[in-house]
Amino acid sequence: MSESKRLYNFSAGPAVLPVSVLKKAQEELLCLPGAGASVMEISHRSKEFEPVIGGAIANIRKLLNIPDTYDVLFLQGGALLQFAMIPMNLLAGKSADYVITGTWSKKAFSEAKLVGQVRSIWDGNDIGYRRKPCDEELAISHEAAYVYICSNETIEGVQYQVLPNTNEIPLVCDASSDIFSRPIDITKFGLLYACAQKNLGTAGVTMVIIRRDLIERSNNNIPSLLNYKKISEAKSMLNTPPCFAVYIVKLVTDWLLNEIGGLDKMYEINKEKADLLYSAIDNSDGYYKSHADKKFRSIMNVPFRLQSDELDKKFLNEAKNAGLITLSGHRSVGGLRASIYNAMPKEGVIALRDLMLEFAKNNPYTRHE
Ligand SMILES: Cc1ncc(COP(=O)(O)O)c(C=O)c1O
Repeated sequence: MSESKRLYNFSAGPAVLPVSVLKKAQEELLCLPGAGASVMEISHRSKEFEPVIGGAIANIRKLLNIPDTYDVLFLQGGALLQFAMIPMNLLAGKSADYVITGTWSKKAFSEAKLVGQVRSIWDGNDIGYRRKPCDEELAISHEAAYVYICSNETIEGVQYQVLPNTNEIPLVCDASSDIFSRPIDITKFGLLYACAQKNLGTAGVTMVIIRRDLIERSNNNIPSLLNYKKISEAKSMLNTPPCFAVYIVKLVTDWLLNEIGGLDKMYEINKEKADLLYSAIDNSDGYYKSHADKKFRSIMNVPFRLQSDELDKKFLNEAKNAGLITLSGHRSVGGLRASIYNAMPKEGVIALRDLMLEFAKNNPYTRHE
């Protein structure tokens, strides 16, 4: 399909990639410059692959200003495997505190329970996961091995604007759906991880940024491929890494650095895109309703609904006809969800906003009592 046939894809993940990244990958698909073969056909230990993985790590370090006291790892098994690996490596005989703000942190908690002792210190289930807690609501144990959060709940569209204060207890964060969407202070985290298929690249690789002292907690009784220490010692090449997925991370981070101009700029663009949709919702006189409470609304995932299931369906249909795809909400929340990750062009968001305005005008809601 040519570029002109590409539609505006609001998928929550795997999600839209920058067109220039796809073009570069297409250009180099048959032959990585200097390698005489594609990146999928060369040894991960070759001198041609070294700048791919080394370059991706250097880019990540630069984007997040990561000090030497942290390591950057590439793993497999998606974000889900981190739900288990984190307690396996970091509990070290203690318990950990989980803040449950939506589907993904809830899932992380239930997986961690299979591994060791963990406790939920806040659960927003009763309020439909519409907000994050404030520090006063979190009774963090002084003994906790770590405190676990999800910075952006992809399904409910709630995002931390201010991180919880955990004092000396390491903060562990699933940043799968908002990594690189805004600048962050990495030194606030003990471990931060993200699967790649939203803002980082393509499915198959997971990035883990971990403070070096925490790596030392990993014990030798767990399988090697689940052991942060062994993976770190082997520079993420304990076995064959997902070379193509790592290569795409390299291209995406090149794009962030060289075309976008870094995370301050990326945040400015993301904020502008999110504001377009939230303004349309806020100025609709209740015609559109967003799922999350205003203060916690995500700049990456915008779940919203209309006044009835019929209108939701009609909107989805019109959106599809207008070339705006994958806007259905997750089945647990219903309604619609626009995922507007880094690579979603502003034009796509404007097209959605315009449709929202037009649709509300053409389909006035009359309540049937
Ligand atoms: C915040 C968050 N965590 C975890 C996951 C699970 O990722 P994976 O499918 O790579 O295991 C997702 C996927 O949508 C997510 O959005």
